Amino acid sequence: MAAEVLCTLPLPEPFPITVSARASLRVLGRLPGHDELCAELEQRQVDVLCPQLRDPIDESVLDAGLPRLRCVSIYAAGFDNIDISAATERGIAVGHTPGVLTDATADYAMGLIIATARRLCEGDRENRAGHFPGWEPSYMLGLDLHGALLGIVGFGRIGQAVARRALAFSMRVTYFDSTEPPVASDLRDHVAAVPLAQLIAESDVVSLHCPLNDTTYHLMDETALRAMKNTAVLVNSSRGPVVDEPALVRALQQGWIAGAGLDVYEREPRLAEGLANCANAVLSPHMASATVATRAAMSELCAENALDALAGKVPRHCVNPDAWERRAVPPLIDAHG
Ligand code: DGY
Repeated sequence: MAAEVLCTLPLPEPFPITVSARASLRVLGRLPGHDELCAELEQRQVDVLCPQLRDPIDESVLDAGLPRLRCVSIYAAGFDNIDISAATERGIAVGHTPGVLTDATADYAMGLIIATARRLCEGDRENRAGHFPGWEPSYMLGLDLHGALLGIVGFGRIGQAVARRALAFSMRVTYFDSTEPPVASDLRDHVAAVPLAQLIAESDVVSLHCPLNDTTYHLMDETALRAMKNTAVLVNSSRGPVVDEPALVRALQQGWIAGAGLDVYEREPRLAEGLANCANAVLSPHMASATVATRAAMSELCAENALDALAGKVPRHCVNPDAWERRAVPPLIDAHG
């Protein structure tokens, strides 16, 4: 029996070459939506599903894949679109692509911080529209980053990589992370952990790097946004629903905060009403990890996870290794490097 792998969207190399050399690979070429994905899984007898972060992998999708589906290998570091406990209960391993996008994402977050604080995109738009009046003392004034206080929410790999970049810009750095992660030795003497309320109230820049889960959903709601300094900016390159987007629009329109730099949105690809008209927002289309090398590295990890599962092994970048203990999955291919 050939091992069957189903991808929703096409992935860059090396995934297609590596996986199709060992298994039958089918690529839908589009996001199927919930019901079509269930139907595909039921009909096609899939061993490994490789979805995107926009594919909703809930209980019914997982059930549609049974009894054959053994692994969901998502082409992303984040996996908030997958019901992990339902996958674990069903003995379905979930693999993801952590680590390889840390630097690209941190570079981009730093870019959003600079662009938002210094009104870079707004200036570009003004200039292109012919509204540049010539140099003037008070034109396009923004926020100095050197000496400013950056508050990082979520101090995992990406949060710490952003801290390194900010320190190189002579920013002061505090962070909040409810999971109390280990802090890298090069950062320990240069960053301070603070309570979330203090971080929100004191920071000149608040940058979000936490996963989306029940505790971080709408972490930046109206109360939190009103508690920020009115000279401060908010940057989000984590997941859209960490911010209450309609409340953010009011914050930007009414001057509770000075600006926002967003790469992610509550209902991607849609923007909350009014957001596109906020001149003080930098709005990029979920592209923080979008470099050629990073997307290839994610592809490699995604393929490794899929091939491990097909070889009967726990995927090497597995979110729920316990899942495998619930189910005997025989190898369908030989183990690979
Ligand atoms: C991820 O991998 O979680 C990013 O949001 C997409 O690059």
